[in-house]
Amino acid sequence: MSLRGVKIVGVGHYAPARVVTNHDLEAWLDTTDEWITTRTGMKRRHWTSDNEATSDLASAAAEAALVHAGLQAADVDCFIVATVTPDYYFPATACLVATRLGAREKPAFDIAIACSGFIYGLTIASGLIRSGVYRRVMLIGAESLSKILDKEDRSTAILFGDGAGAVILERSEEDSFLACDLGADGSRPELLYAHGSGSREPLDHAALDAKLHLIHMQGRETFKLAVNKMVESTGSVLSKANLNKADIAFLIPHQANKRIIDATARYLGLPEDKVVINIAEYGNTSAASIPMALSETVRAGRVKPGDLIVFVAFGGGLSWGAVAWRWAQ
Ligand SMILES: CC(C)(COP(=O)(O)OP(=O)(O)OC[C@H]1O[C@@H](n2cnc3c(N)ncnc32)[C@H](O)[C@@H]1OP(=O)(O)O)[C@@H](O)C(=O)NCCC(=O)NCCS
Repeated sequence: MSLRGVKIVGVGHYAPARVVTNHDLEAWLDTTDEWITTRTGMKRRHWTSDNEATSDLASAAAEAALVHAGLQAADVDCFIVATVTPDYYFPATACLVATRLGAREKPAFDIAIACSGFIYGLTIASGLIRSGVYRRVMLIGAESLSKILDKEDRSTAILFGDGAGAVILERSEEDSFLACDLGADGSRPELLYAHGSGSREPLDHAALDAKLHLIHMQGRETFKLAVNKMVESTGSVLSKANLNKADIAFLIPHQANKRIIDATARYLGLPEDKVVINIAEYGNTSAASIPMALSETVRAGRVKPGDLIVFVAFGGGLSWGAVAWRWAQ
């Protein structure tokens, strides 16, 4: 099969209606708006209600992307959801989303690589299109992290939010996908994980009481690695694409902590106006953060044809990656 090009033809995002501000968190946690703002850049986050799940958020973002692209679900050949908070262990959330959108019987699958989910997903979806397997792919990053948060743990409860972002990729003459740089290191899963519920430590009453099924993170160590890997991966993807930092129109990083993003931008020598940050509104939404930020930026009319976007992420796994993307008409 000969290689073809790929471009993004539609974007959409959705966040649940319930907003939890830093001041709201002060009501039950030993924390302050001032601490959260200065240490993370977060002011608010959106949390799902009891009767909302990840497929609800994913479907809403996907519908917005379809409207933006002027397409129907039936026009899409394959559906991918990047998430670590699926509706169920199985079936895959993507199956539920595709059927809900009206594309029953179309192929659909999830990928679980935490905060790097959109970067890995963009690489997989672009590969499916560029190799000629599919003409259009819907890629959605969606999370309901509030459902696996220990709401009594101030070191994690403040950080994570819920939301979804979707992109529709389509075969094209031009090729937006310039290069990718992906990596993973499973030697220290304990830096960021929810361990007490899988086949290694199946969920029992003791695990439940000890809250082992909820997010556990070693924040300080993760912070340092995040900055190093995001800088490294951005440099690597640029060099693979034969481009320089000066060519970047927008860096769209995973939104884990504003200080991580600021440090990354500083090392890369990027001015503030080239770095997309929406963490104040949403907190860390893992696989959803990059497509949500992309959708907001595109819909605000800021992205022009020919712009070089670098997407970059770091997260649980550990995992990381970057994609260099030339925005097409
Ligand atoms: C979690 C994080 C915000 C903590 O910020 P930090 O500056 O590293 O803070 P520390 O963990 O060193 O904690 C400093 C102090 O603040 C306290 N603290 C932690 N959370 C707090 C909160 N919500 N409110 C008030 N104090 C808090 C700690 O208990 C600690 O107190 P101590 O010194 O008395 O022990 C930061 O480490 C971080 O963002 N880490 C990476 C997150 C990330 O990248 N996630 C993965 C990628 S998806």
